[in-house]
Amino acid sequence: MKKKSGVGVIGTGKFLPTRVLTNSDLEKMVDTSDEWIITRTGIKERRIAGEGIATAFMGSEAAKKALEKANLSAVDIDLIITATITPDMQFPSTACLIQSRLGASKAVAFDISAACSGYIFAMAVAYEFIKSGLYRNALIIGAEKMSSITDWNDRNTCVLFGDGAGASVLSKVDRGGILSVYMGSDGRNAPMLEVPGGGSLRPSTHETIDEKLHYVKMSGQELFKEAVRLMAEAGNKALALSGLRCSDISLVIPHQANVRILWAVAKKMNLPREKVYLNIDRYGNMSAASTAVALAEAQEEGRIKKGDIIILDAFGAGLTWGAIVMEW
Ligand code: COA
Repeated sequence: MKKKSGVGVIGTGKFLPTRVLTNSDLEKMVDTSDEWIITRTGIKERRIAGEGIATAFMGSEAAKKALEKANLSAVDIDLIITATITPDMQFPSTACLIQSRLGASKAVAFDISAACSGYIFAMAVAYEFIKSGLYRNALIIGAEKMSSITDWNDRNTCVLFGDGAGASVLSKVDRGGILSVYMGSDGRNAPMLEVPGGGSLRPSTHETIDEKLHYVKMSGQELFKEAVRLMAEAGNKALALSGLRCSDISLVIPHQANVRILWAVAKKMNLPREKVYLNIDRYGNMSAASTAVALAEAQEEGRIKKGDIIILDAFGAGLTWGAIVMEW
């Protein structure tokens, strides 16, 4: 049975830096090949933000476009949530910096940290706040400058990540909207993907920098297995909560970590590959920005029509995972 929640996405936007870093550029930087990267990950190129361009700038540019599509101005927004693991600085929050850039003077603003699942977690929080009546119009943003925490000498990780931002405006809607939300976490597997240095446990020192602890450390193979298992679980559980079936889904908007992960998830969920939205070839893994940008692009490209049932599905460090079913 479909339950109308009455909270939906009324505008989306994205920002991608103009600089393109191709696989052949990477061949000149580390011992890798275009062929290896494409066959193992599906990535052909990614965007890199230049010096002085950081997460708040990219997030606010994406947010401006989402506001325009929603036909709202910044002062109409009463909640801003930014999902990021690459904030401009430790504090204040990137959401507050974005609030200032937008002139969203009436909004309460805060960040959440859920890595690649961040945009889905932000949407879940905004959904509940709007449903409860506390806020009317929420801006949720997934924005990352992954190039700032990438070790450009480590071929195991540097071929995977890219920079960018996506934003959505959530509000009350007459029909459709979010039908179900499912989220999970497992901190026992935190060491599988982390930036160990620069926090309160190991504050930045000459030693932590020499040991490169300020860069992403990743156990690729273990993560791969968990990503397949947990993205499929999240998708299936969210679908069950919505009361819908696989065949009702028009499009899955997944976090873009590896095309092989996505094909395995599609298989586990009994979904044909055509129903999985992909843009990893152009952007790589942009952590919290990936699902946000994918939703904005799928809409721009006319892949989502009024009344369609879509699923957002993500997995990331923490570990964290989650899925949202919505009627567009
Ligand atoms: N270019 C060429 N060779 C590379 C390479 C690169 N960029 N990166 C690793 N290799 C090598 C390895 O050193 C290894 O060599 P060896 O067999 O001589 O030891 C070989 O390729 C295979 O490495 P492996 O780690 O088994 O590859 P894989 O098929 O598991 O693919 C990932 C590696 C990282 C692409 C894959 O594990 C993955 O995508 N994991 C999930 C990552 C992820 O999703 N992270 C974010 C979560 S949101």
